[in-house]
Amino acid sequence: MFVLENSIRSSIKALKPYSSARDEFHGVAEVYLDANENPFPNGKNRYPDPLQMALRTAFASVKNVDPSNVVSGNGSDEIIDLLMRVFCNPGIDNIITLPPTYGMYSVSAAVNGVKVKEVALTDDFQPDVQAILKAADEHTKLLFICSPNNPTANTIDGNIIVELLKSFKGLVIVDEAYIDFCPEKSVIGLLSKYTNLFVMQTLSKAWGLAGVRIGLGIGHPDLIKVLDKVKPPYNISVLNAEAALVALSNSTLMYQQVAVLINQRNRLADQLSVYSFVEKIYPSDANFLLVKVTNANLIYQKLINARIVVRNRSTVLLCDECLRITVGTPDENNKLLLALNTIEL
Ligand SMILES: Cc1ncc(COP(=O)(O)O)c(C=O)c1O
Repeated sequence: MFVLENSIRSSIKALKPYSSARDEFHGVAEVYLDANENPFPNGKNRYPDPLQMALRTAFASVKNVDPSNVVSGNGSDEIIDLLMRVFCNPGIDNIITLPPTYGMYSVSAAVNGVKVKEVALTDDFQPDVQAILKAADEHTKLLFICSPNNPTANTIDGNIIVELLKSFKGLVIVDEAYIDFCPEKSVIGLLSKYTNLFVMQTLSKAWGLAGVRIGLGIGHPDLIKVLDKVKPPYNISVLNAEAALVALSNSTLMYQQVAVLINQRNRLADQLSVYSFVEKIYPSDANFLLVKVTNANLIYQKLINARIVVRNRSTVLLCDECLRITVGTPDENNKLLLALNTIEL
């Protein structure tokens, strides 16, 4: 059974966090002489709230959870790194990833001196539960499941996630970076039942804020408190939090754009399937398509010559001769199709 206290590193358990000026005083004062800031107002002269309560409350209300369930990071990438540092003793502990999947789990593990055990997805891009349980040992602290998965574009079967939540001894992280393209597949609803579930989302995809760097983690309040203890106090700038609040106040716009992108994704899938060099288009629940072609390197290069960049994934496990194509605006997708029309193989 997963017990948070027993799973986190002892150095983190013992950690007395840095207490910033803005941690010690809550409320609204008349005069702030506590943080060595420049007092002349310009909208940015004060340090931000270390707990980013306005941002967390806005996100929590969109996602129907309590703000105490939410942690915010400088992109999901910072949250991945925080999880490594909270749970994994360098040189001792390990994590499990399910390739082909998002590359930062392994990179972040390597940076933190944490070993990665890779358990390949099955041919239909689903986790192999028995192989995962077999690979896990007493030092396996984290299991990263990406749903919808990058680069395969499919969501992971909810029953399999539940099976893993019941049987895996460590923390199960479900990375839902692309979930706003298929909100009905989110596992946030399982949080109240499974304390070993941690969900990651981001404002970088459907919300249109990749340049702003806001990632969100949703989990048990006790875990959120530990992550807050470890994260840099001012990891989200005033400017970034403001941009996030503007986006989160208009989820209608986000869902309108998602509807356009899903339409375009279906149109692209239809139109790509007629090319003789396209062998397979994998089903997608995200804003990209994984497309198997006859010669990925050649088509990639021809598109580059037409000044169109897609992602060549042909060296990745289970993705032989595959390109990953992000769905663009209708005009961008027209340009892609026009360029492909000129390719003869
Ligand atoms: C599955 C997945 N998770 C996380 C991220 C990164 O998110 P962020 O921009 O919030 O760091 C990406 C970006 O491509 C991704 O594909």
